[in-house]
Formats: sequence, structure tokens, C-alpha cells
Amino acid sequence: MNKKQPIIWFTGLSGSGKSTLGTALEKVLQDEGRHVRVLDGDDIRTGLCKDLGFSEEDRKENIRRVAEVAKLFSDNGIVTICCFISPTNEIREMAREIIGKNYVEIYVDTPLEVCQERDVKGLYAKAELGEIKNFTGISAPFDIPTNPEVKVATVEKSVEESLHSLRKSLDKYL
Ligand code: ADX
Repeated sequence: MNKKQPIIWFTGLSGSGKSTLGTALEKVLQDEGRHVRVLDGDDIRTGLCKDLGFSEEDRKENIRRVAEVAKLFSDNGIVTICCFISPTNEIREMAREIIGKNYVEIYVDTPLEVCQERDVKGLYAKAELGEIKNFTGISAPFDIPTNPEVKVATVEKSVEESLHSLRKSLDKYL
């Protein structure tokens, strides 16, 4: 039977770089010969969780389902990379509890001002105009993670630089 693999859980604001780093990490780990799978908020929310919105309760259910799916992958020998805002301590604690000791939390530490400036999807502009309700960082909370296994900075760093330091930090979990 396959050995259980870590679940690498990226948390951070919208536009912080979770998916960029998550998919770049996927490639690095695949090149090392590992089986890897990425689960990403934007994909999961068009399928498995398309019935859910962005209230606190719906976000919690979103993360609960993802954590359960990730656990199934992990139990079958797949390194699972999850990229979800997972905005509150309570939500992240729930994920950690469902997954257990294979949960490796990565806080993508990009300040709100930088995410707003990047505004890759144009959502911050809409949130500021009140066109999107409950938007994380604007009209919904984001608790800074207090004990992530790894913290990655993205400001004034290239994706390669952030990725390189992240990969090194993951040595003890892989
Ligand atoms: S989570 O809070 O439940 O973890 P998740 O990571 O799945 O969120 O989805 C976040 C993505 O949904 C954002 O990157 C953004 O593209 C989109 N989105 C749409 N509405 C919101 C909102 N109100 N708050 C945050 N993200 C939103």
C-alpha cells in the first residue's frame, strides 16, 4: 500500500499567489517523480462546491469537503496541494483536524494593499464598489495564520525565488 502523503495547504488572500505557487510547486514535485494533485478554489467552486457561496458557513462547508477529498488523495499516495483562501483560524483548524498530521499549512504572506494593486481578476475593484459582498479582506475577515508550518513572502520576489525557498522548507515533510 502507498504511504500517506502530505497535504500542502496554501492559505492567503485572493490574489496573494496561492494558485501560482501551488501549480509551480506541482511541476517541481512531479519532476521529482511524485504523484501530485492540485485542488484550487476557482475549480472546486465550479464543480464539487458550486452550490456554495461566500458566507462564513458556506466557506466552512467548502473547506470541509476539500479537506475530506484531499485526505482521500493523500491516503492513496498522492501529494495534494490545496489552494484556498481558508480565511479564519476556525476554518483552518477544522482542515487541520480533518486531515491530521499530514496537514502542512503554507501562509502566502502578501499584504492586502499588494493584492488590491495586483487585482488580477478585477474583484477588489468590484468589492470596493459594493458589487461583490463578503469579499475577503474588504468586507469579510482574514485572520493572519498564527502557526503555519511555512510562511512564504511574495513581495519583491520572483515566483522562482519564492518557490525555491518554499521547496527547501518542505524537505522535512516530503
Ligand atoms: S474560501 O474562503 O472558501 O477558502 P475559495 O478559495 O474557495 O474561498 O475561493 C476564493 C476565490 O473565489 C477567489 O480567489 C475569487 O476568485 C473568488 N471569489 C468570489 N467571490 C468572493 C468573495 N466574496 N470572497 C473571496 N473570494 C471570492
